[in-house]
Amino acid sequence: MNKLTRRLSAIAELIEPCAVFADVGCDHGYMSLYVLEHWKANRVLCIDISLKCLEKTIKLLKRNQVDDQAIFYNCDGLKAVRQKPDEVLIAGMGGTEIINILYEYSKTHDLDSIETLIIQPMRDTYAVRKWLNSNGFFIVVDHVIKDGKIYHLIKAKRGRQKLTEFQLTFGVVEASYYTRDYLEWLREYEKKCLRILENASQVLAVNQSVRGKLNQIQKQIKTVEEKIC
Ligand SMILES: C[S@@+](CC[C@H](N)C(=O)[O-])C[C@H]1O[C@@H](n2cnc3c(N)ncnc32)[C@H](O)[C@@H]1O
Repeated sequence: MNKLTRRLSAIAELIEPCAVFADVGCDHGYMSLYVLEHWKANRVLCIDISLKCLEKTIKLLKRNQVDDQAIFYNCDGLKAVRQKPDEVLIAGMGGTEIINILYEYSKTHDLDSIETLIIQPMRDTYAVRKWLNSNGFFIVVDHVIKDGKIYHLIKAKRGRQKLTEFQLTFGVVEASYYTRDYLEWLREYEKKCLRILENASQVLAVNQSVRGKLNQIQKQIKTVEEKIC
């Protein structure tokens, strides 16, 4: 059994038992292996657009003798999969790329067949939340984990939810996920806003919008500090 990094362990914690699990962008194969070794799914669809990356997963699952429960796809997103996954993991890609994979899938499949979606976008988390919110997904977990860099982890299920601008920007983070990592990310965001304000002091529209965000973020920092410090 491979020792998972902090980021991959946090993803693993979000995985629920299911029938068919899809690991889109499986690369090293650690998550596919985790799912099979922990009996989280009967079948794992290991998908990667890069053959070289997919081969790493194939090798790892073979070495651990769980490859007979996996189906390997060298393809773009879920385009070539024949079995409908009920749980989908897309981690380590840009938000726009993730949205595109889900959008392409929705053209030929009912998104209702996906019960659980676990996403770890490298950027564009606002766009990801907005897409989920507009396409019948309900965010059940949204938190931040530091593993060298800061990562956002989102788990969603089918259902309705009306997200506010604040939630789209700062996450649907519940008090139970007010952590030092989340606080660090908020502080980084605060610094970014302050830098923009310094450089764009002449542009009124930018100023107003960034000031609004800064206000919100400083309130959230205070709330989180009160809870954890
Ligand atoms: C940075 S790695 C992340 C690996 C793993 N999911 C993780 O979170 O550690 C991104 C992987 O996604 C694959 N990838 C990128 N775009 C893809 C797409 N459209 N469809 C399938 N795989 C893709 C890449 O080839 C690469 O192996």
